[in-house]
Amino acid sequence: MNPRGFASDNNSGVHPLIMQALADVNNGHVVAYGSDHYTKSAIERFKTIFGNEIAVYFLYNGTGANVLALKSVTESWHSILCSEVAHIYEDECGAPEKITGCKLIPLPHVHGKISVDGIHKHLVWLDDEHRVQPKVVSITQSTEMGGVYSLNEIKTISKFCHDNNLLLHMDGARLSNAAISLGLEYVDFTKKAGVDILSFGGTKNGMMFGEAVIFFNPEHAKHSKYFRKQNMQLNSKMRYIAAQFDAYLNPDIWKKNAINANEKAQYLYNAVKDIKEINVVHPVEANGVFAIIPKEITEELQKEVFFYVFDEHANMVRWMCSWDTTTDDIDRFVKRLKELLKK
Ligand SMILES: Cc1ncc(COP(=O)(O)O)c(C=O)c1O
Repeated sequence: MNPRGFASDNNSGVHPLIMQALADVNNGHVVAYGSDHYTKSAIERFKTIFGNEIAVYFLYNGTGANVLALKSVTESWHSILCSEVAHIYEDECGAPEKITGCKLIPLPHVHGKISVDGIHKHLVWLDDEHRVQPKVVSITQSTEMGGVYSLNEIKTISKFCHDNNLLLHMDGARLSNAAISLGLEYVDFTKKAGVDILSFGGTKNGMMFGEAVIFFNPEHAKHSKYFRKQNMQLNSKMRYIAAQFDAYLNPDIWKKNAINANEKAQYLYNAVKDIKEINVVHPVEANGVFAIIPKEITEELQKEVFFYVFDEHANMVRWMCSWDTTTDDIDRFVKRLKELLKK
């Protein structure tokens, strides 16, 4: 049995009901590339959640989803504004820049969140051919630092974007964790809050693979089918992504999984917050705990179960909880942490 750790919610396995959904569609032949009834059914599910006026594209992974979302609405002379710790800026090997041709402009953040002030600063030299032209703002929900934008924060950013001719993209690789944290339905803090394009993730919360991009204005998706194919994200056996989403969008999976991951992050936070050598540096609002810990114990603790050092200068580590994290996993880990601190 592989031990469960805190390195990444991507390190977790696949929820049994998702496995079951994959097995259930694994019979006979259906038309490839998304023209099958399973894909239609999954798209219908998204329409039930977000309304009929949407365009839905399934892709293999989160990087592909973000790139398709951004590529669909930009030209190479545009810029994309995002936080300096955004996955699109730091962790996609430059794919958004390479494929969109756009300049990504990193903005300062608080707990992974950007603000209107940060965006405003870059709304200069508009219509000037010497400068890239801001076109899209991208926010991550929940953020790369475990924070969650409030409904008001999203509405403030989207209003500012639309007042200034900008589109708002949301990287929702951990959208379900944010939904649970906010106590809101997906639609409330995305489409209804003014988000234009949503990367909808499930892999970190119990799926095997696959992401969706939801365009709330189908006009924005006019050329997306070509970009998806050109960028090698068109899955021939689409039924296996669709079947996962069809199952995942049942609250028995997405809600239960995200509730567990978020609750376990709170449990872990409560277990370490009063240890004087541990400094939790971001509010624990979703499923991650970010803490500065003594450098000397880091390697030994990583031998117990692996986790990443997120900021090597400050020795800030990231402990992620998953849909399958248990209190026993955390108790064992914290026990070892305390032992090492005593040495
Ligand atoms: C915020 C965020 N966006 C997107 C992704 C998706 O990335 P991938 O291409 O690895 O599926 C991740 C995965 O770590 C992420 O943390």
